[in-house]
Amino acid sequence: AQPAVHRIAVIPGDGIGREVVPEGLRSVRRAAEIFGIELESEQFDFASVDYWQQHGTMLPDDWFEVLRGFDAIFFGAVGWPAVVPDHVSLWGSLIQFRRRFDQYVNLRPVRLLPGVPAPLADRAPGDIDFVVVRENTEGEYSSIGGRIFDGTDRETVVQETVMTRTGVDRIVDFAFQLAQRRGGHLTSATKSNGISITMPYWDERVAALAENYPDITVDKFHIDILAAHFVLHPDWFDVVVASNLFGDILSDLGPACTGTIGVAPSGNINPTGEFPSLFEPVHGSAPDIAGRGIANPIGQIWAGSLMLDHLGHPEAAAAIVAAVERVLDRGDLRTPDLGGTASCEELGTAIAEAIAK
Ligand code: NAI
Ligand code: MG
Repeated sequence: AQPAVHRIAVIPGDGIGREVVPEGLRSVRRAAEIFGIELESEQFDFASVDYWQQHGTMLPDDWFEVLRGFDAIFFGAVGWPAVVPDHVSLWGSLIQFRRRFDQYVNLRPVRLLPGVPAPLADRAPGDIDFVVVRENTEGEYSSIGGRIFDGTDRETVVQETVMTRTGVDRIVDFAFQLAQRRGGHLTSATKSNGISITMPYWDERVAALAENYPDITVDKFHIDILAAHFVLHPDWFDVVVASNLFGDILSDLGPACTGTIGVAPSGNINPTGEFPSLFEPVHGSAPDIAGRGIANPIGQIWAGSLMLDHLGHPEAAAAIVAAVERVLDRGDLRTPDLGGTASCEELGTAIAEAIAK
């Protein structure tokens, strides 16, 4: 059979997004070549401040139809607050993609890389290697609620958490499947002792789905102690699944435990494949260093690895991460955020060249 051709929409966006995306693509293309993966990419200039200055909007009217035909979106960063307020640039682009493409999984790998200054003492590469799976569409971040008796002593504000069986089951099931491909261990974030209706329901669905995965070890922690364990015992985790709010916090805390924001990637995934998933670094457009060629490209390169994994190429994905580790381990090529003097392009080129079967 002919190998499927994967169609990638490339959106560099703003600031260092335009510097790191070419480096991410360099590694993705190199891995594709080595592993015999067929890729086609098309680059778009929307979701950027330049586009906004020319058109008065962040996206063209037909963005949904244009992008939905792709298998994945490789995204840099959007935002240039000196020109466009951040809520306009973010809500006018990235948030639209996440919502309209029903990217209900937010995936954040947490892995200690060699040579990355890490805030946790006495941890070596290999000690920390887990993934946070965040529910990305419902839960605590709902717009159901309101405010009454404004400006009086009875001023009252209510906001509801929404958990649907569809929404909970699909994220928990994704996490179980991921645990099956990884170390066979799933940890669920709960708070059933304090949030006495939705969180017991979450636990109930985790327990129900666990019956389909008898080989997976499942445990759960209340979110407060779970946050502490991320810092004290990061070696305990393999796959961690959490509701929208808890996942938001854990997916920042996890990567923070392993070092600089310049290396962290993120996937916004629609596992059904009905719509494209989006892969991006965690960081933004970094106006303070943009244009100087010194941004760390690793977050973008690692996002490319997540993309290849999502497209069904786990060996190519692993080869990219291994190349990142090999180059960092060598120690002589580091960008300024890692204490070195290498440029974005030098580090990106070295990583692409280090990719091997
Ligand atoms: P930021 O992540 O762009 O920068 C924070 C700090 O980290 C800066 O000092 C920056 O120089 C540094 N940094 C970030 N990435 C780096 C890299 N690859 N290598 C070396 N240093 C790096 O966050 P900030 O400053 O809060 O936001 C700047 C703009 O980016 C805003 O417009 C914001 O809305 C947008 N943003 C966009 C995101 C996205 O597109 N997903 C995510 C976060 C922020
Ligand atoms: Mg967050």
